[in-house]
Amino acid sequence: MQIFVRRALETDADSINRIAAASWLHTYRDIYDAEEIGRWIERNYSPETLRKHISVIENDRTCLFIVALVENNIAGFMELKVRDRTTELLRIYITPDLTGNGIGSELLRHGENWMMSNGEGRLTVSVHKKNLPGVRFYEARGFRFKEEIEQHIVLDKNLAGS
Ligand SMILES: CC(C)(COP(=O)(O)OP(=O)(O)OC[C@H]1O[C@@H](n2cnc3c(N)ncnc32)[C@H](O)[C@@H]1OP(=O)(O)O)[C@@H](O)C(=O)NCCC(=O)NCCS
Repeated sequence: MQIFVRRALETDADSINRIAAASWLHTYRDIYDAEEIGRWIERNYSPETLRKHISVIENDRTCLFIVALVENNIAGFMELKVRDRTTELLRIYITPDLTGNGIGSELLRHGENWMMSNGEGRLTVSVHKKNLPGVRFYEARGFRFKEEIEQHIVLDKNLAGS
């Protein structure tokens, strides 16, 4: 599968909204009820909210918001944010029909390259503890368990490998 990664544009907002809604309903179907998910998507992933966010972070060197394209269609997205020498993986979602094809790995690889070119070496992520495929994805890519905070597991990865 050919995967092309680039920065998110304001014109990607509708696609990101659709992927977020589909992926949240699929990923969290046994964790949150559909109405709760709908409210979350409306609040955090409405096309308008996304467009504003993308335009605000455009020139922010501490943020990376990227999308993966497969056959010219957006198939997933990821956002990283640097805070106090640690980079947080804020979100990564792949369209449910296309998971398991290397898209998430490719987004992560781009994110790690971006971090290294900025001299950043520590990446951290928080995953719902019932999202076992999510936890396994990170563990298989070198993240290690750090701590559990309420319903979430925090994992981190040192890109230097130590
Ligand atoms: C978790 C998630 C981001 C991973 O992305 P993905 O594109 O499915 O992941 P990949 O395909 O890169 O890797 C996952 C598996 O696919 C397989 N894979 C990797 N590259 C592949 C390729 N080129 N072709 C086929 N399969 C591949 C691997 O077997 C891998 O499994 P492994 O972890 O045992 O090695 C994605 O599944 C997703 O959106 N999940 C729902 C949302 C979510 O949980 N997000 C994280 C919340 S914090």
